[in-house]
Amino acid sequence: MKNLKILCLHGPNLNMLGKREPGIYGQDTLDSINTGLEKIALEKKIKMEYFQSNHEGALVDCIQAAAGNTDYIIINPAAYTHTSIALRDAILSAAIPFVEVHLSNIYKREEFRRKSLLSDLAAGVICGFGKYSYFLALNYIISKELL
Ligand code: DQA
Repeated sequence: MKNLKILCLHGPNLNMLGKREPGIYGQDTLDSINTGLEKIALEKKIKMEYFQSNHEGALVDCIQAAAGNTDYIIINPAAYTHTSIALRDAILSAAIPFVEVHLSNIYKREEFRRKSLLSDLAAGVICGFGKYSYFLALNYIISKELL
C-alpha cells in the first residue's frame, strides 16, 4: 500500500464551527471533522496534517510548505473560495492535486457563493454534505490511490 500524505486545510471562520450559523453549517466542530478524517485515514495508514487559519497569507504559506512533500490537499477555502487569487496561485505553484469541499451547498445560497476561484483546478468539488463533504473527499482519494 502506498504511504499517502494528505493536508487538510480549513479557511477563515471554520474555527467557529459548532457555534457559527448552525442552521447552515451544522453542529459539528472543526475538531470533530478532523477526528473523523483521522479515523478513516488511520485504517489506511494515511498521514494527515490539519491546518486552519483566518489569514490568507498563512494558508498560502502552508500550501507552499506542502509542495514536494504532500500527495493531496483537501481544502475548504471558506470565504476565500470566492475571492482569493493568492490561494489559486499558491495551489497552482505547489502543483498538488486537491479536492475542494464545502459544508453547505454553495449553489443553494447567495449568488456570490456560486463562483469559486479554485474549482476549475480541483480534481473535484464536494459540497452540501456537512462534515461528510470532507469524508467523501478523503474516500475519493483512498479509492483512487489505494484500492
Ligand atoms: C463554506 C461556504 C463559503 O461560502 C463560506 O464563506 C464559508 C464556508 C462552506 O463550507 O460551506 O465560510 O466554504
